[in-house]
Amino acid sequence: MEKYSQINKLRISKELEQLRLKYISQGIPSLKTPSLNELILHVSIKSPDKILEIGTATGISGIAMLSTCEKAKLTTIETDETSYNEALKNFELFGLSDRVTCRHGDAGDFLNFTDARFDFIFLDGAKSRYVDYLPDLKRLLLKGGVLFADNVLFRGYVDGGVKYTRGDNAIVNNLRRFLNAVISDDDFFCSVYEIGDGILIAQKR
Ligand SMILES: C[S@@+](CC[C@H](N)C(=O)[O-])C[C@H]1O[C@@H](n2cnc3c(N)ncnc32)[C@H](O)[C@@H]1O
Repeated sequence: MEKYSQINKLRISKELEQLRLKYISQGIPSLKTPSLNELILHVSIKSPDKILEIGTATGISGIAMLSTCEKAKLTTIETDETSYNEALKNFELFGLSDRVTCRHGDAGDFLNFTDARFDFIFLDGAKSRYVDYLPDLKRLLLKGGVLFADNVLFRGYVDGGVKYTRGDNAIVNNLRRFLNAVISDDDFFCSVYEIGDGILIAQKR
């Protein structure tokens, strides 16, 4: 019998899938397949004009989102210079450079100072910083806009079922603070899903 809940057929081009697999084999982080599927689905449903991504890495998720929604423009931020340069190359390769503002730097600095507004935010940077970013993310998100955050259950540690070492304490605590803050905020509809490394999807009311 087919396990329908475990079918994860990616809706990305063969070229993008090949590039994604190449980076994964090199140990460069990219969204897990079920999470990428979910991201693509929500971008497709929301059909945003302006997407903000925190954590570009090599551009795989950015390219997937822009390929899903052809009218969308993307602002994406990456702190690591090598990944940033690789992402620039990849956006060019997929003919998307004119729809992307790719920034090299710390997401926190960008979030503090920007006045831009977005109708979709994909949060995929440093997990321990999500809670610090939240006030700015809420400010930058338009009414009806969607916040999609990856890794929020962090290897099962955040829900308490899996043991973790002291080294992960700060990340786990900060992710719990982030989830508590979104869940208790009446300005958001939200759900947390055990998909991939755990995702939170919230809509600003
Ligand atoms: C999980 S990876 C992103 C994967 C990418 N979104 C994808 O699915 O293809 C997280 C990225 O966030 C970047 N990052 C970490 N801290 C950051 C910060 N403070 N500002 C911007 N980017 C950051 C890391 O260098 C890393 O490339």
